[in-house]
Amino acid sequence: MGSLLKNALTWADDRFPLSKVWNEHLAEYYAPKNFNWMYYFGSLAILVLVNQILTGIFLTINYKPDAQLAFDSVEYIMRDVDWGWLIRYMHSTGASAFFVVVYLHMFRGLIYGSFKKPRELVWIFGMIIYLALMAEAFMGYLLPWGQMSYWGAQVIVSLFGAIPYVGEDLALWLRGDYVISDSTLNRFFAFHVIAIPLVLVVLVFMHIVALHAVGSNNPEGIEIKKHKDKKGIPLDGIPFHPYYSVKDLVGVAVFLFIFALIIFYMPEMGGYFLEHANFVPANPLKTPEHIAPVWYFTPFYAILRAVPDKFLGVVAMGGAIFVLFLLPWLDRGVNKSIRYRGPVFKAAIVTFVISFVALGYFGMQPVTALGTFCSRLFSVLYFAFFLLMPFYSNIGQDKHVPERVSDK
Ligand code: HEM
Repeated sequence: MGSLLKNALTWADDRFPLSKVWNEHLAEYYAPKNFNWMYYFGSLAILVLVNQILTGIFLTINYKPDAQLAFDSVEYIMRDVDWGWLIRYMHSTGASAFFVVVYLHMFRGLIYGSFKKPRELVWIFGMIIYLALMAEAFMGYLLPWGQMSYWGAQVIVSLFGAIPYVGEDLALWLRGDYVISDSTLNRFFAFHVIAIPLVLVVLVFMHIVALHAVGSNNPEGIEIKKHKDKKGIPLDGIPFHPYYSVKDLVGVAVFLFIFALIIFYMPEMGGYFLEHANFVPANPLKTPEHIAPVWYFTPFYAILRAVPDKFLGVVAMGGAIFVLFLLPWLDRGVNKSIRYRGPVFKAAIVTFVISFVALGYFGMQPVTALGTFCSRLFSVLYFAFFLLMPFYSNIGQDKHVPERVSDK
């Protein structure tokens, strides 16, 4: 059996670089030996992506992209299709899990300076993935054709109308109609099930190729490629496989435990993962009292609402996302990891996290005077974190970064 497999591998290797790819990216990819739990989120993001694609295929089998039939087809999946409820809850919970995992993955990059030279492109690919993910989630949310699907899409697409000169035409082009309608549902379906997932898979591939070209960062922010043995192997590196492939399984187990708990015991998550209004079929004649996007969009929605002018609000919201692309050039600090950065940078990170979470909270709430005031305050702090970074990021860089990863 052993020699049969060996022969099969040799046969394949003569025709395709199977062993070469396996070695380059797994068995001989030397990752820093000090990865901590924050490094689980990359592999978890891949797991969730696979979950979304697989469950999505099975949902598509019974879902009908037609304004007359969509809502009922989802109810049919939930009630009559064998295991349909499980597949649907895996997909809807997977959408929120994706953002939880990706936000933590980005936060890890932020605090360990993983976006800095030479990993700028890893970050840029990551940001394009993030944009694609937002588009994917937004379009997917229209498909169940519930009240929030309909009115959420109506609000967001109409925002494009605020762009001078081309706005109205752009909104019309996106909807394929003057209001959200069957045409919109059809095109969002096409983008959600094929166009964006394809782009996502290609981007994730490029993200990892870019990462493997430069090598992984680590919680100490030490470049392990600086110290290699005679064979060119980093002294502080260990092969990704089997060390991290096995370690990542721990993250997978913990993740699946929490994921299953949510799916089986609280799939709507109190209205945060599946909003209550979405259990009512879309009604173009009746606007829900309070329209709010799903939690992962609410920080940006709060920024949009904080600005009184619609067009400037759209600019602020877009700017809040765009500014993340610039991070590698805004941060002038020499040291990468937060462990070796000064108190000003640490305080800035804490302020940023508080602002982002607070904006997320206020973006979910109905508009009040106090809410608007707080949203404005936290929007200013959010932008200050980025725009003042060139000035504060190099303060207190006097901590010495060790040359090698310590065993402690
Ligand atoms: C579908 C979404 C994504 C997937 C599947 C994914 C996958 C991965 C994987 C497998 C790694 C290597 C393991 C690790 O370091 O955790 C990684 C590293 C990295 N990712 Fe992502 N990623 C995604 C989204 C993003 C986003 C949105 C960003 C930021 C904008 C980002 C930024 C980074 C950075 C900077 C690294 C290098 C980290 C380091 O070496 O310290 N990724 N990603």
